[in-house]
Amino acid sequence: MTLPPVLEPGAKAGFVLFGATGDLARRMLWPSLFHLQQDGLLPAGLHYYGVASRDLTNEAFQNMVAESLLARAGGQAEAAVREFVGRIKYHAIDLSRGGFDVLHGQPGLTSDAAFQAYYLSTPPSLYGAACESLQCAHLVHENSRVVLEKPIGHDRASGAAICRSVAEVFEENQVFRVDHYLGKETVQNLLALRFGNALFEPLWNSGSIEHVQLTVAETVGVEGRWSYYDDAGALRDMVQNHMLQMLALLAMDPPSSLDAAAVRNEKIKVLRSLRPITAANAQANTVRGQYGAGIADGKAVPGYLDEEGARTESVTETFVALRADIDSWRWAGVPFYLRTGKRMAARRTEIVIQFKPVPHDLFASPGNGGAGLQANRLVIGMQPTEKITLEVMSKEPGLSGTRLRPVPLDLSLHEVFGVQRPRIAYERLLLDFLRGDPTLFVRVDEVDAAWQYIDGIHEGWRNTGLKPQKYLAGSWGPTAAIALAERHGHSWYE
Ligand code: BG6
Repeated sequence: MTLPPVLEPGAKAGFVLFGATGDLARRMLWPSLFHLQQDGLLPAGLHYYGVASRDLTNEAFQNMVAESLLARAGGQAEAAVREFVGRIKYHAIDLSRGGFDVLHGQPGLTSDAAFQAYYLSTPPSLYGAACESLQCAHLVHENSRVVLEKPIGHDRASGAAICRSVAEVFEENQVFRVDHYLGKETVQNLLALRFGNALFEPLWNSGSIEHVQLTVAETVGVEGRWSYYDDAGALRDMVQNHMLQMLALLAMDPPSSLDAAAVRNEKIKVLRSLRPITAANAQANTVRGQYGAGIADGKAVPGYLDEEGARTESVTETFVALRADIDSWRWAGVPFYLRTGKRMAARRTEIVIQFKPVPHDLFASPGNGGAGLQANRLVIGMQPTEKITLEVMSKEPGLSGTRLRPVPLDLSLHEVFGVQRPRIAYERLLLDFLRGDPTLFVRVDEVDAAWQYIDGIHEGWRNTGLKPQKYLAGSWGPTAAIALAERHGHSWYE
């Protein structure tokens, strides 16, 4: 399928990045745009603007962006980098005070442009004010679009308030809420795996699946973001968005097509079918953890409470494990175990589909020395390597009876497709945003349903006084997380 170009030949459009000097912009957004330009996907008619509160000259700003691009791309890309940054125009604007008039009438931002694209990589508390200022400066037209970064709020009420203030300026079809996990190839591949193969879908239900595991383990700590992170914790930072989005793609019914409405309609059904976790079941279904000092990535690292800027009495979780249940015909009785944490033993994002055992073990007779059948397992490795493994039982070669052993059918997607450079998730998302395709962005009702589920868990924790348990940096989290799965006869895949 050939996708439409960002702009028709000869057309003009504008892209404004608010928060242009921030960490996300320097590490991800400018490099992603640079790569898209290198791939010839961003036509000359697209005008870039960087906006931030720092008082910088255009030249100083361009040098700053060039430095981050060169750190990634290496010195040989100097000429291309210089050409790219030369296209960006910087404006120092304090978002909380308005002053957007300087953008008015700039190339690509006029009402006759093909579109005006605004990317808000700023604190969410400024989203409402920024949208209002755009409107006051006559920068919002029918063809305007806006991107909002996560977190959209701190809970359901604040999330809804932000969405309402944005909705006063932009229609829902103009709002693009980023969850960068949806930009990852591996996450999109879930749809391909499930709906592009006849093999899995007939088995993708409680008739054949025993349980599902979803792990997002990181070895990094809070990376200098202590005060943001302490306010959020692992549940808000990772589960409310990335993990619930993956869960929705994993558990949804087949959409009628791949268009945005069809896919999002199926995802929202899953999010709305999550069985609430409340005070009555929070102790049984969730585990909170907080890392202490230990060894991560081969280095001695401090505990969470000794990180730079930390408050020593914090009870924020840096690890969470939970059992989610989806109350639907397809998934009745199938536990979905989710776990995520900072400073874990390894960086690993993976999904494990544990199938049920065969109904009758033909190979169990003592005469054949069979070691017992293991149920099939599908492991979808997403980070650091993209790999799909199907574990099947196979007969060991030889004449001494019928000995069976589990063997992996391994598929390394990098090797198969010969991928040269793994793409940054934001490349795909920025391109879709510029093309105006919202499929990989989160709709307002999804944000709300996710917050509703997460708020229930927080309330359950508050009402039961459930505190984080300590775990060693460089481990797989508190031992209670093991018990969470074992209580139901299951164990985490290691
Ligand atoms: C972000 C979280 O959304 O995702 C971070 O705020 C986390 O805390 C990051 O480290 C993980 O993303 P990735 O792409 O490195 O897995």
